[in-house]
Amino acid sequence: MRATLNALLLSRWAKPVVFALALVPLVWTVWLAWTGELGAEPILESVKQSGLWALRFLLIALALTPLRVFTGVAALARFRRMLGLFAFFYASVHLLTYVGLDQFFDWHAIGTEILKRPYITIGMGAFVILTALAATSTDGMVKRLGGKRWRALHRGVFLAGLGGCLHFLMLVKGWQTAPLVYGALCAGLLALRRWPLRLPNPRTVRTLAPKPQDG
Ligand code: HEM
Repeated sequence: MRATLNALLLSRWAKPVVFALALVPLVWTVWLAWTGELGAEPILESVKQSGLWALRFLLIALALTPLRVFTGVAALARFRRMLGLFAFFYASVHLLTYVGLDQFFDWHAIGTEILKRPYITIGMGAFVILTALAATSTDGMVKRLGGKRWRALHRGVFLAGLGGCLHFLMLVKGWQTAPLVYGALCAGLLALRRWPLRLPNPRTVRTLAPKPQDG
């Protein structure tokens, strides 16, 4: 089973298929907007959908390393960078939809919102971190920064994840389940990274830390 999964994920079709699947939420949202089925407030709904998918891809990318270690499917590491970049992509769509379609590029109003609404300030902080991670995700940047500095910088992905969850928690009215579930998942993944479970083979414990060459 493990060997079959590894072989499937190592095939030359695996990356294009995962890439195409990762675009489905965007295509689906655009389709619903085009056909007028995105609800009474299509722009707000597009902002919400892109925000949710940014958070989902971030958590999926974070879950790949523990999944790889616990299942032994080493080929999962090939998808970490791509899925992390999709988190950045959906966060960019989220920001652009908000700035362009929701605020009509009214920079004064946007500046006021960033200062006045803490959930926007935190969302912006998370986006800045995601931008820094995306900009340093290339092999060239790994070489320029060196493995140790690259790893330290890329630990910021948890801060972006927690920031995204806090942003979500602060913007919903009252206590709702969804932001709490995303927050718990993010905290759980962070805890796994900091206190890795003792597996039979001690070498596997160490592999829970991210490696620059993954992906
Ligand atoms: C770049 C700065 C950001 C801005 C200006 C921003 C702005 C917004 C706005 C205006 C909403 C809709 C609020 C409402 O319901 O009235 C929203 C929702 C949301 N955003 Fe952001 N956001 C930003 C960054 C992020 C990032 C980086 C993430 C994820 C990593 C994220 C995840 C979400 C989620 C999950 C929702 C809620 C979706 C729902 O209600 O179902 N946002 N954001």
